[in-house]
Amino acid sequence: KENLERGRNKAVSETVAQKPNQSIEEETRRRRTFAIIAHPDAGKTTLTEKLLLYGGAIQLAGAVKARKNRKAATSDWMEMEKEKGISITSAALQFEYSGHVLNLLDTPGHEDFSEDTYRTLIAADTAVMVLDAGKGVEPQTIKLFKVCRDRGIPIVTFINKMDRPTKNLFVLLDEIEKVLGIAAVPMVWPIGTGVDFSGVYSRKDKSILTYDKTPGGSQKSSFQTSGVNDPELDSRFEDWVIKSFREELELVEGGISEFSQEDFLESKITPVFFGSAVNNFGIQLFLDEFIKIAPPPLFFPLKDGSRLDPITTPFSGFIFKVQANMNRQHRDRIAFLRVTSGKFERGLNVLHGRLGKSVKLSSSFAFFGQDRNTVDEAYPGDIIGLVNPGTYAIGDIVATSKVPDLKGLPVFAPELFATISSSDTASMKSFRKGIDQLAEEGILHLFSSQTIGGGLPIIGAMGQLQFEVFRRRLLDEYNAPSTITILPYAISCWIGQEDLAKVPSSANLVTDRGGRAALLFDTEWDKGYFQKKNPEITLLDYPPSA
Ligand code: G4P
Repeated sequence: KENLERGRNKAVSETVAQKPNQSIEEETRRRRTFAIIAHPDAGKTTLTEKLLLYGGAIQLAGAVKARKNRKAATSDWMEMEKEKGISITSAALQFEYSGHVLNLLDTPGHEDFSEDTYRTLIAADTAVMVLDAGKGVEPQTIKLFKVCRDRGIPIVTFINKMDRPTKNLFVLLDEIEKVLGIAAVPMVWPIGTGVDFSGVYSRKDKSILTYDKTPGGSQKSSFQTSGVNDPELDSRFEDWVIKSFREELELVEGGISEFSQEDFLESKITPVFFGSAVNNFGIQLFLDEFIKIAPPPLFFPLKDGSRLDPITTPFSGFIFKVQANMNRQHRDRIAFLRVTSGKFERGLNVLHGRLGKSVKLSSSFAFFGQDRNTVDEAYPGDIIGLVNPGTYAIGDIVATSKVPDLKGLPVFAPELFATISSSDTASMKSFRKGIDQLAEEGILHLFSSQTIGGGLPIIGAMGQLQFEVFRRRLLDEYNAPSTITILPYAISCWIGQEDLAKVPSSANLVTDRGGRAALLFDTEWDKGYFQKKNPEITLLDYPPSA
């Protein structure tokens, strides 16, 4: 309590020193913090690379490309991550474009890493959904989309691979509407698809960006039209291509509403762009429009449904990712913080909400691969890495004055469970340390139980790969070989403290890291049966405080 009071007083004196500053507003308004969501192979890596090229971060682009091998076997994936250190060691890439500062959040690409990806999305103000024009809406896209929608994160769609055979474009738009439940509003319309793909037409200003295939690549140029019936279109494009383009556009203009910024911000519509990332086609047009429509980090959601004003509120931020052993030489842990309000300055004293004490934010970095640069100041929407000697956990909020009640991070109930044991008694200590630190990163759930698993720690994940990576990291980073034994459960439900005494002794009772009780079930049927037999116990899909 004393600590809390001291922390508060200190933090308040800092706040007074931080005068309201015109530049906070300017800096906030020019920022766009976003994440790309996609099913593996849709072109997320390629698009990221091209976006960085436009941002002038050319030297980074090749490194991003190397990440694509994540899709290979686990071991290759781990090697790749270590070697290139991109996905693991960078939470956000910052680049400038046309007077704007773009923070592109890095979302791990592998399907099994969904939980980490989901959490990262919470730090984004906009999501870019990349679809493969030949495949449409795929399973991973649906999951990620739902997280964005639940959070009220507006979504911009980029339909990629237009140079390849595509699904019927109206079927694609229909799929977005039916499967995802959001109206798709094309901002541009393609002229031809696949081998006939010849360019895109901007509905807003009636200009055309042409896509000319040339031996060894493609070229683009743009020209203004007076509209869809401009005779210049006939002279520039093949007859059959322009004929069907005109028919399609008539359907679009007749049946699909215009873009509305309000509807977009309310996630009622998703503006749709078409292009080809690998051919660097349609990206600039997309980016130019994106910076206009994507919201700046102006209002972060609070628990009570209201919003935090980043300009008038003194510095605050929250931890959305914790990463151990980012740099093998440093052997440290890094907590990634998203600034939600005010200006961050290195050395700032802040109040740590969970610990109730004052902490100094002295070691703040921006990362790319193994490189780290000290960050001296940051603004709302920016991501900074803080050296974490165990001070920060995912979901922690820090602030110079009152700690804001930010809307919490979603917790996902694991669906796969296993016991984990050390296979080398000599490394027991580092095994325990590793388990603790890696669980703190949030890469999987850690439970203990007196009834199941023979007293061994129980790990819970959403995918098998999470287990593999966990074991691998225990070995590599903590020198702790381990064995895992899969448990038969597939469902976990939390229960409140008040129901604990009512749980029958036959139940599969476990306790999570936060000391909260949960029950594990083999199947939905088992869960239903339990609920029927024990109607007085409330089964929660998420931990009580989440
Ligand atoms: P991901 O991060 O979403 O998993 O996808 P990634 O960018 O790695 O792209 C997956 C594959 O799709 C890559 O091919 C990439 O080159 C290709 N691709 C991306 N955008 C386009 C596009 O607009 N048109 C076409 N035709 N292909 C595209 P790959 O065979 O896996 O690698 P590579 O050898 O071609 O580099």
